[in-house]
Amino acid sequence: MNVIKWDPKKTLQLFIAAIAVICLLYIVIPGKSRKHQLVKPKYKVRHKLSYWHEQILKNDTLFRLVTDQEFLHPKSQDAFKKYFRPSKYVDDNRGKFKAIALKDFNINEDVIVYLHIQKVGGTVFNGHLINDLDKGFDCHCTKHVVMNPCHCKNKAGNIWLFSWFTVGWPCGLHADWTMMHECVDKEMNKLEGIKRHRRYFYIALLRDPISRYLSEWQHQRLGQHWEEAKLKCGGQSVGKFDVYPCFQEHWKECTLNEFMNCRDNLATNRQTRMLADLTLSDCYKRRTQFTLLERAESRLKSSMDNIQTLPFFGLTERQTETQHLFEKTFGLKFNKRFESLNDNEEEDMISEDEFVNIMKFIELDMQLYLFAGELFKERLRQSI
Ligand SMILES: *[C@@H]1O[C@H](CO)[C@@H](O)[C@H](O)[C@H]1NC(C)=O
Repeated sequence: MNVIKWDPKKTLQLFIAAIAVICLLYIVIPGKSRKHQLVKPKYKVRHKLSYWHEQILKNDTLFRLVTDQEFLHPKSQDAFKKYFRPSKYVDDNRGKFKAIALKDFNINEDVIVYLHIQKVGGTVFNGHLINDLDKGFDCHCTKHVVMNPCHCKNKAGNIWLFSWFTVGWPCGLHADWTMMHECVDKEMNKLEGIKRHRRYFYIALLRDPISRYLSEWQHQRLGQHWEEAKLKCGGQSVGKFDVYPCFQEHWKECTLNEFMNCRDNLATNRQTRMLADLTLSDCYKRRTQFTLLERAESRLKSSMDNIQTLPFFGLTERQTETQHLFEKTFGLKFNKRFESLNDNEEEDMISEDEFVNIMKFIELDMQLYLFAGELFKERLRQSI
């Protein structure tokens, strides 16, 4: 018969192993994060996004399925109702916007800083800025401007545009509002080799959040990504404990569900995050006194505040008006018309459950986008 003998050495080993496991769990289990209750796939019939837009207009069941789901932010339900059935609502913010403080752009002294959010058609826009804008001087950029940024200095020998094509990514790949405000002036001193007082005209493009989110997924699925982009906030690098990467080497062929299920996916409410001052809500810190809702509210409010301070922003879906507003704002003309971006990516085939579930990952962006749409309209009115 086997008698189990008490072995002090083994017990100690077990004890140490148990402690190690507990430590590991402490690291692995997130402090604060949100587990989304996703709708399970019922019918795997896939349609284009435009199909779902049509359906939700006339089908009340689908409309309720989308808008009555549980969101983090209390105002998200209303935002989606307004987005999908706009004719039933009036603008909330008419006449309530702050006036732009920066005016009278001078291309020989001032600097345009392009805050380039991923997948909004920003590369095309960046191309317009260096190739199609009548500036009174040429950029003399080589063909491969994507790999070799071309400073495109003005007549005074200064850099007038801080963007990918002109200076690369000195503040980090697709740097956000927070990173740029901590970095641009320092980098401009280095680039120009002088310290001088500069006025920075921040600009950005925003895009329909559903299309943008799908487009980012598409981008990931093809194996492209910005994973090497190092996030910074409050003068510090953001570590893996706070933002855990979605994948290790590549994420080729990831499904939309995998994409949505990645806990720290930076695509989630990307536009809000990239336009907000993140230092106001403890950056990305997982262990923080901010609740998830408080952080969401802070980011949303800050992004709405900040977008009003941008002397110019455009909407990807409104190319013509975007061009007009840019020309009016900066007193410069393009020698070419902006064309509407034909977006094949929007033709992604998605199932009903995916269509419903996506909304949970863009709820703040949707609120920001509606707000930005009203602000855009107001600025257009004032510019005519
Ligand atoms: C409306 O949407 C619901 C939920 O998606 C679906 O089950 C139903 O078949 C739709 N009705 C019509 C008339 O298409």
